[in-house]
Amino acid sequence: MLTNKIVRERDFAKIWHPCSQMKDYETLPLIPIKSGKGAYLYDFDDNRYLDAISSWWVNLFGHSNEHINKKIKEQLETLEHVIFAGFTHKSAVELAERLVDITPKGLDKLFFADNGSSAIEIALKMSFQYYKNQNEIRDVFISLENSYHGETMGALAVGDVALYKKIYDEILIKTVQAKSPALVGEETALESMETLFKKYRGKIAAVVIEPLVQCAGSMAMYDKSYIINLKKLCIEYDVFLIADEIAVGFGRTGEMFASASAGVVPDFLCLSKGITGGYLPLSVVMMSDEIYNAFYCDYLEGKSFLDSHSYTGNALACSAANATLDIFEKESVIEKNRAKIEFLSMCLKPFKELPNVAEVRQRGFIAAVELKGYDPKKRVGLEIYKFALKNGVLLRPLGNVIYFMPPYIITKDEIKNMTTVAYSAIKDLIV
Ligand SMILES: Cc1ncc(COP(=O)(O)O)c(C=O)c1O
Repeated sequence: MLTNKIVRERDFAKIWHPCSQMKDYETLPLIPIKSGKGAYLYDFDDNRYLDAISSWWVNLFGHSNEHINKKIKEQLETLEHVIFAGFTHKSAVELAERLVDITPKGLDKLFFADNGSSAIEIALKMSFQYYKNQNEIRDVFISLENSYHGETMGALAVGDVALYKKIYDEILIKTVQAKSPALVGEETALESMETLFKKYRGKIAAVVIEPLVQCAGSMAMYDKSYIINLKKLCIEYDVFLIADEIAVGFGRTGEMFASASAGVVPDFLCLSKGITGGYLPLSVVMMSDEIYNAFYCDYLEGKSFLDSHSYTGNALACSAANATLDIFEKESVIEKNRAKIEFLSMCLKPFKELPNVAEVRQRGFIAAVELKGYDPKKRVGLEIYKFALKNGVLLRPLGNVIYFMPPYIITKDEIKNMTTVAYSAIKDLIV
C-alpha cells in the first residue's frame, strides 16, 4: 500500500518541483496527495487539508466537482483533443460565444492558449504586431511596479517581483514600470503613468495591469477608480490597455471580472486559472474586432498572427470551462458569494488587534494579513505554512503576507476554521 513516505521518496528521487528550493524538502517533506473532495485534499496517510489557496488560485468549485467531472467525462467519450489550426470543435465554439457574452462589450474575438503566461505573451506580441502591421514600430511595454504576469520571458519582463525576475535581467526585453496605485496611492501612480506616456509617446505598444489586486505582489490592492482613470489616459495617449485577469477573473474580487466592475473595457483581456474551475490548463486572450481586423488579410501580405501551442483550444479543457460557466449561471455564484465574503471580513477583524499585524486587506474572496517586524531571512511565512499544515489547513504565505483565496464552495464553518488556524499561527509567533 502506498504511504506518504513511499510516494515522497519516489518523487524526491526524480522530480524537480516548481517555485521551490529542492533542498528545503529535506526538512520540509512534500505532501503526497491521494485525492481531493470539495475544499479538502487528502494525503496517503489519510490526513486532510483545507485548500485555503484553491491550489494556486485555480479551484473555484471544489476538488472533484460532480458537474465538472460529468462534463469532462462526456467530452472524453467524444473528442479529447484536435489540432486547432485548420480544425475546430463544439466545446471551443460554445466557450468562445459564452465568454464574449459575459465579458465587457467590445471584446468580440478570442485567441486560445494553455496557461496564463502564454496568454500574456500573446497579448504582448499582438499589441506589438498590431502596429507593425501598419508599418509602425512601438517597442515599449509599460507595467506597474510590484506586478506579476507569469514566468515566461515576456511575462517576466513586464513583471516586477525581484524574486522571480532579477536573475534574468540581462536577457529580458526592456520594459518600464510605472508606480503602483497599491503602493503609492492613485494620484501619484497616475502621475507616474502619465509621465511615461509623455516620455514614450508614439512608442508604447501597451500597458499591462492586474486590475484591483497585484496577487503575487503580496496581494497589494487598489481601487476601481485607478482603472477608470488609467483607461482615460490610455485613450488620451492612444495606448493599448491589457487587463491581466488571470488571477482576479471569474469572481475572485467579488464581481465576475474586475475591469468590468470598474466599467472599463480593456483592449486585451487575459483569462486563465479559474476558467476551467481549476481542472485543466487553458487560457484566452480577448480583443476587439478592430484589433482582429488589423491581422485579417491575404496570407501573403505577411500580417498573420502565427503564435501557436500544441494544446491550443484543448477539448477537455474547454468542456471543463463550459461546465464552470454552467455553475456560475445555474447557481448565482456571484450573488451567493457575497454572504461568504462578508463572513470572511468578520473573521478577519481579530487579526487587526494583533501587535505583529501591519495591515489586513480584502477584495472579495481575496484576503491578506501582512505581518510587521520580521527579518525576511527568518522565513516567517514558512513557519506559518508548517503550523497551518499541522492543523489541517493549506496556506502558502507570500513572505510575511498570509493570504486566503479559498474555493467558492467553502462553508462558513470552514472559513472560520481557516482563519482561526491562521490567527493562532500568527499569535504564536509573538514572543
Ligand atoms: C496575474 C497573473 N498573471 C499571470 C500569471 C501566470 O499564469 P500561469 O502560472 O498559468 O502561467 C499568474 C500566475 O500566478 C498571475 O497571477
